[in-house]
Amino acid sequence: MAFETVVYAVLSSILVIIIHRVFLHPLRHVPGPFFASFSSLFLYAICYLGVEGRVTRYLHQRFRTPVLRVGPNSVCISDSSALREVLLSPSSLLVILNIATGAPNPWPPLFAPARIRSACALDQPIGQSITEFVKRLRIYQANKVSFDLVDLCARLSIDVVTGYLLGEPYGGFAESAHLSAEEQQEVKLSANPFVFAIVAFSRFSLLPNFFFRQVYKLAIRLSSTDESIQSFHKLDQFATEATFRADVTSAQNSTYQSRLLEAGISPQETAAQCKAVIFAGADSTAVMLATVIFHLIQNENARHTLAAEVAKWRQGSPSTDPESIPYLRAVVKEGLRLGMANPTRLTRVIPAYSVVHVGGHSLPAGTVIGFAAYNLHHDEAVFPQPFEFRPERWLEDRQDGGLMERNMIPFGR
Ligand code: HEM
Repeated sequence: MAFETVVYAVLSSILVIIIHRVFLHPLRHVPGPFFASFSSLFLYAICYLGVEGRVTRYLHQRFRTPVLRVGPNSVCISDSSALREVLLSPSSLLVILNIATGAPNPWPPLFAPARIRSACALDQPIGQSITEFVKRLRIYQANKVSFDLVDLCARLSIDVVTGYLLGEPYGGFAESAHLSAEEQQEVKLSANPFVFAIVAFSRFSLLPNFFFRQVYKLAIRLSSTDESIQSFHKLDQFATEATFRADVTSAQNSTYQSRLLEAGISPQETAAQCKAVIFAGADSTAVMLATVIFHLIQNENARHTLAAEVAKWRQGSPSTDPESIPYLRAVVKEGLRLGMANPTRLTRVIPAYSVVHVGGHSLPAGTVIGFAAYNLHHDEAVFPQPFEFRPERWLEDRQDGGLMERNMIPFGR
């Protein structure tokens, strides 16, 4: 009898929650799949399966709405004008963040354009890594060796990010420099298992924190291999040594880790942040670069047009900034559009005591708002034939007031 009472109590509570979420919740009028209106399992499942972008794009089209309810308390926004309303709303989280981080910064930014430009000189970290990248491409071409483009881009990216930010390259190129061109194809970048492990855990990222920690621990235990343990160890060692060697006396001109230490961050936390930035910067840049090169290989017209434009620019004035070559800019933008370092929903939470009005809906405090590059970058109304690589679209005269630019969120918002 007592057991039955407990079962009734549990079932009634679940029923009450479902009724509240479906019929009484402030998001009840927002269109979306019925199941998602009362359970987060829908979101967890599409996130786990890695189909969040495709499924939400389909549902936005099916329900014909720019604001889609994807969970009891979550919406997805697919229209950049609606997104603008969210981000520019006086109550939006971004405004609050700007206030919170508004303290004056005593140092010039690490990513100041002039600093980046000077690091591209041939004897500087970015220039040296690019030289090595091109050298390897030439060797593979001369030896007719087929190669792993993503791995090669990953070597370049990790050396650029670490050389530029931490003052010493990780050694993406150096670790295979002693091998022949053919042998280099047998070995992959030692940091790959570290990067892949982090990417793999992101499929659990929507789980509540407690469950995420347990799943994370379990997944580490189940998926650990000698290779991944070595990879994590090598990254740990690299970040710890880079932190140890940091010169805090010249923090304002120097490295990421010296700035953190100078700001009073502990060496352990600084080393952890170095690993985080290696992951964040190296993987995204590698994937974007590989995407651009992949599409140029596939698309002969684009490749020839780009080569001709660059040759013309070199003959004209070698000192011109490459960023000012219109077709090169268009190629990079089109690569960023299709590459999408993160195609899933980037989420923001509406702060307490606020309401955001978007697409005819009032979203209350606590609502999780997501917007995905997959939806915005593949909006057919903005980018005709959205899945095609067509750099020319960025050079056409259009009367839509920068709609394409507004739909681009390759770096988030
Ligand atoms: C083409 C290259 C890159 C792309 C496409 C890219 C894209 C992104 C995206 C989409 C996000 C999520 C933003 C959001 O939640 O709104 C992000 C976050 C981040 N990226 Fe990048 N990124 C690139 C390069 C880099 C580089 C070179 C670094 C550093 C060296 C970097 C460091 C970070 C960090 C630290 C975050 C987390 C920021 C936070 O959580 O507040 N990224 N990036």
